[in-house]
Amino acid sequence: MRFSKFLFLPALWVLSAFPSPVQALTLTIRTDSPGKPISPMLFGIFFEDLNYAADGGLYAELVQNRSFEYSALDRPDWNALTGWQLLKRAEGDGTAYIGDARPLGPNNPRYLELHCRAGREGSAVGLSNSGFGGIVLKAGEGYTFSVFARQQPGRHFSWQVCLESRDGTILDSRDLPPLSSDWKPYSAVLHPKESTDSGRIVLWIHGDGVIYLDMVSLFPQNTFKNRKNGLRRDLAEVIADLKPRFVRFPGGCLVHGDGLSNLYRWKDTIGPVEHRKAQKNIWRYHQTVGLGYFEYFQFCEDIGAEPVPVMAAGVSCQNTDRYWGVGQQAVPLEKMPEYIQEVLDLIEWANGAPDSTWGRLRAQAGHPEPFNLKYLGIGNEDAMTPAFRERFEMLYRAVKAKYPDITVIGTVGPAPEGFDFEEGWKFADALRLEMVDEHGYKSPQWFWSNLNRYDRYDRTKSKVYLGEYAAHEPDRRNTLRSALAEAAYMIALERNGDLVRMASYAPLLGKHGNTQWNPNLIYFTNTEVLRTANYYVQMLFGTHAGDRYLPANLDPPLSDEKKFAFSAVRDSRNGDIIVKMVNGDAQAVTLTLNLQGLPQAETPAIQTLLTADTPDACNTFRSPNDIVPKTAPITLRDEQTFTAAPYSLTVLRIPRQK
Ligand code: AHR
Repeated sequence: MRFSKFLFLPALWVLSAFPSPVQALTLTIRTDSPGKPISPMLFGIFFEDLNYAADGGLYAELVQNRSFEYSALDRPDWNALTGWQLLKRAEGDGTAYIGDARPLGPNNPRYLELHCRAGREGSAVGLSNSGFGGIVLKAGEGYTFSVFARQQPGRHFSWQVCLESRDGTILDSRDLPPLSSDWKPYSAVLHPKESTDSGRIVLWIHGDGVIYLDMVSLFPQNTFKNRKNGLRRDLAEVIADLKPRFVRFPGGCLVHGDGLSNLYRWKDTIGPVEHRKAQKNIWRYHQTVGLGYFEYFQFCEDIGAEPVPVMAAGVSCQNTDRYWGVGQQAVPLEKMPEYIQEVLDLIEWANGAPDSTWGRLRAQAGHPEPFNLKYLGIGNEDAMTPAFRERFEMLYRAVKAKYPDITVIGTVGPAPEGFDFEEGWKFADALRLEMVDEHGYKSPQWFWSNLNRYDRYDRTKSKVYLGEYAAHEPDRRNTLRSALAEAAYMIALERNGDLVRMASYAPLLGKHGNTQWNPNLIYFTNTEVLRTANYYVQMLFGTHAGDRYLPANLDPPLSDEKKFAFSAVRDSRNGDIIVKMVNGDAQAVTLTLNLQGLPQAETPAIQTLLTADTPDACNTFRSPNDIVPKTAPITLRDEQTFTAAPYSLTVLRIPRQK
């Protein structure tokens, strides 16, 4: 053993020539080996509009129910006026109705009809919206107000848009141009003079008669990458920091929906927002689809991730019958050609020339270059019924016939075992699918007990996309214990990265107070973003990914009860070597770390440690930094003693030796 210099490092990191390990354990890593090629896109994300992830979340629109399309179908206590309040000034008075006789278009059938009695000097009728629990306004930033409006012919109105704080202080206002008796768009940019977390937008109308309003919108100009109709910057940045290699979207159960009438139809989600078709969200709220397919693909491009859209396999979600809905319904066979065409059209929209039928719409939206779609998910956790199989096969064959280069990802049920899983795999084998989507929500112990799962898979069969997984505590908290179980599993995924091509934690986002599902990777309020311990695990694997798995061996091997996992990968883009170790136990693991191939001389490296005193630790809004990665320089040699702290994930990044 050669002696390395003592390094004094914070907390629990110990790297020294002394003392000798309590147990004579040696972890040998062949840093000079070419290694086994593994998927360069192993770690990505899965975005679903669940827990207010899109409307009221990532989609930056600040007005709730902007197009008066909310209804009791979304939620029993909602209606078309939910989110709106009528205000009166001086002798002004008014009545709000919902109209549908002369809509903006067939996809946007309802609008507000405001009967105003506010013609007297100083009188006005107001209409206010406080967004999703108070509009956050920042002093000095620009906010684009826009609306479609028309008026009863022959009347005269003046109108004004205001941003107000909760106590009614006017933060900015703009007079709006005269109304016409035909639908016309109106807009103004406002700059609040003060910041508030609980603002509202108010339209004040002065005059007698009826005015009609739809698509009342307030959008921050400061969105992610300053995109119009874009994403909430702080949330999008935290997602981008994961360095995801792909994004699976838009669900999940959302895709196959509650019955056929609730399938996610991508064509309803593109083009001008006022012509998109909102619908109920299977998670029991409303989807405006303002965040639609164009925005999803653009986000992927903005963060350097491959888009992985998922289309329903011609059947709806079987699970809704257990709670509130209709269960699995199948597109009638005579309608399948139409549905198949819808799937093929998506590929043309994403990849087709700007003069192709669907590529033209992408170009008109501002993206003449193709999006280079390579993957398409068909189905999500579907029950393996004859109806599903028949429709999946039709879709699969049609896609492969027209677009042989597109990788179609099949589905093998909601769990990593059971009927749908077994039957799903048999079906995939029969069709010789390139890839299937496995899901697994299990206890932390399950993850530790299944680290060898993929080592046993037949390499001649379909590749695996682990599209949804999370370690679930009995109380569904994002504990360090759950995060470390996931980290250990991700290490096993790296080792099996020849077979497992992609993996994504689920779900990604949860709005505090509006969750239908826990745990989630990231929690947020209107003003804050909380990174969980699980988030930091994903982030560390995303930022320290490799494309070659290096031989790594622990001698003697530890018993199955011991919670210790390790991997070594190389990122061939820069030659860096990354060693990861997870210790899920209360005792430190001290070992001789033998980095074969590293020079004897001191090699500068970076180590990152994610740990806390107890496996029950959790980041919370009150205490968001209890579990955060800590990074420090370290000097490595070909051999040294290393201690993996209790309850920890350690990442050692060794830059390529010049
Ligand atoms: O991730 C939450 C849900 O879990 C997904 O919508 C579904 O696919 C799974 O059951």
